[in-house]
Amino acid sequence: MKLVEVVTTMTDTKRRIGFGVVGVGAMGRVHAENIAFNIPRARLVAIADTLVEPAKKIAANLAVDSVYSDFGGLIDDKNVEAIVIAVPPYLKKEMIVKAARAGKHVFVEKPMTLSSNDANEIIAETDRAGVKIQVGYQRRFDKSFRRVETAINEGRIGRILLMSSHTRDPPGLSPNYYLDFSKSGGIMADTCSHDFDVIRWFSKSEVTKVYADGGILVYHKELDPSGIPDHVVVTLTLEGGAIAHVDSSAYAVYGYDVQAEVIGTNGAAFVGIGERHATTILDAQGHHGEYPASYAERFAQAYHDEIEDFANCILENRTPRVTARDGKAAIEIGFAADESMRRKAPVTIKR
Ligand SMILES: NC(=O)c1ccc[n+]([C@@H]2O[C@H](COP(=O)([O-])OP(=O)(O)OC[C@H]3O[C@@H](n4cnc5c(N)ncnc54)[C@H](O)[C@@H]3O)[C@@H](O)[C@H]2O)c1
Repeated sequence: MKLVEVVTTMTDTKRRIGFGVVGVGAMGRVHAENIAFNIPRARLVAIADTLVEPAKKIAANLAVDSVYSDFGGLIDDKNVEAIVIAVPPYLKKEMIVKAARAGKHVFVEKPMTLSSNDANEIIAETDRAGVKIQVGYQRRFDKSFRRVETAINEGRIGRILLMSSHTRDPPGLSPNYYLDFSKSGGIMADTCSHDFDVIRWFSKSEVTKVYADGGILVYHKELDPSGIPDHVVVTLTLEGGAIAHVDSSAYAVYGYDVQAEVIGTNGAAFVGIGERHATTILDAQGHHGEYPASYAERFAQAYHDEIEDFANCILENRTPRVTARDGKAAIEIGFAADESMRRKAPVTIKR
C-alpha cells in the first residue's frame, strides 16, 4: 500500500460523525446519551428542543456545548453532519427535507411521517441530496430478533407459512401528543408499525391485504377523546400467500412485552418476552420471572447498535438496514389497518 493510502486509512478510522439530536424527550435522550458516551465513531455536538431549559440540563450532563431552541440551529451548525429526529411524528417531514437540502444525514424515529405523499417526498429529497436516511425500527438490531433472521437466512425455517408479532405496553407510557391522532398517527402507525416492519423484514415480502379490529377497552372516552383504540388485532396477507397477525395492547400490567413467531415448512422460531434476568422463582403459586419495565430497558442494546450502525453507514458509504422505503411501507400498512377498522372490512394495499 502506498504511503498516501496508509495515511488516508488511518485518518478514516479516527473520523467521528458529528451528530445533532432534535427532540430530547424520552426517546431522543436515549439516542443522545448513546452518541455522547457509547459510540466511538460518533460525537454529540448539539441538541435542539423547544423546551430549552430541560434541554440545557441534558446538554450539561452530556457535555454538549450547543443547545438550540429551534431545529434551524442544527441546520446552520457546521459541526452537525447527521441529525437524529425524535420529535412528534407530524413534525418530521419538514425537518427531514430541510436536513437533506442542507446535506445532513438523517436518523428518524418511527413512524417516519404520517402520509404516503410525505413519505414519497422524503424518499425523493433524500435520494436527490444523496444523504443517508435510517428509520428507527430497532428490532432489526435486537440480538434475539437477529437470531431469527439468521435462522431464516440459513434455511432452517423453510418457506414461511405463518407469522405473528406482538407489542404490549405497560399502562400509561404514551407522551402527551400521542392522543391527538393527527400528531401521532395512533396505535397503528406509532406502535404496530414496529410489528409491520418485523413481518416485512422476516418474510422479505410485501403485505397485500389487512383486516383489523380494535377498541378502547381500558382508557375510556374521557381519557381518550380521540378514539384511538388501546387494543388492536390485524391479520395480514403477504405476497406469495403466507399469513400473519399483529396485535397490540396498551395495558400490560406485568411489563413491556414484545414477542414474535415464524412458522415455516422446515421449522419455527420464536422471540419470547424478554426476561430481565435468568432467575425464575418457584413457589406454591407457580413460577415467577421479572419482565422489562419499558422499551428503553428491553431494547437498550438495539438502540445502541442501530445508531452505531448508522454512523458506520455514513463512514463506510453503506445503505442503512432500515431505509425510507421501509419507513413508508410500514406506515402504509398502518393506514390500511386504520381504514379496515373504520370500514369493518378487509383493505387491499395497492402499490
Ligand atoms: N423506537 C422506539 O422504540 C420508540 C420508543 C418511544 C418513542 N419513539 C418515537 O420517538 C418519537 C418521539 O417520542 P417521545 O416518546 O420521545 O416523545 P416526547 O414527547 O417524550 O419527546 C418529544 C420531544 O420533542 C420536543 N419537540 C416538540 N416539538 C419540537 C420542535 N418543533 N422542535 C424541537 N423539539 C420539539 C419536545 O419538547 C420533546 O422534548 C416519536 O416518533 C415516537 O414514536 C420510538
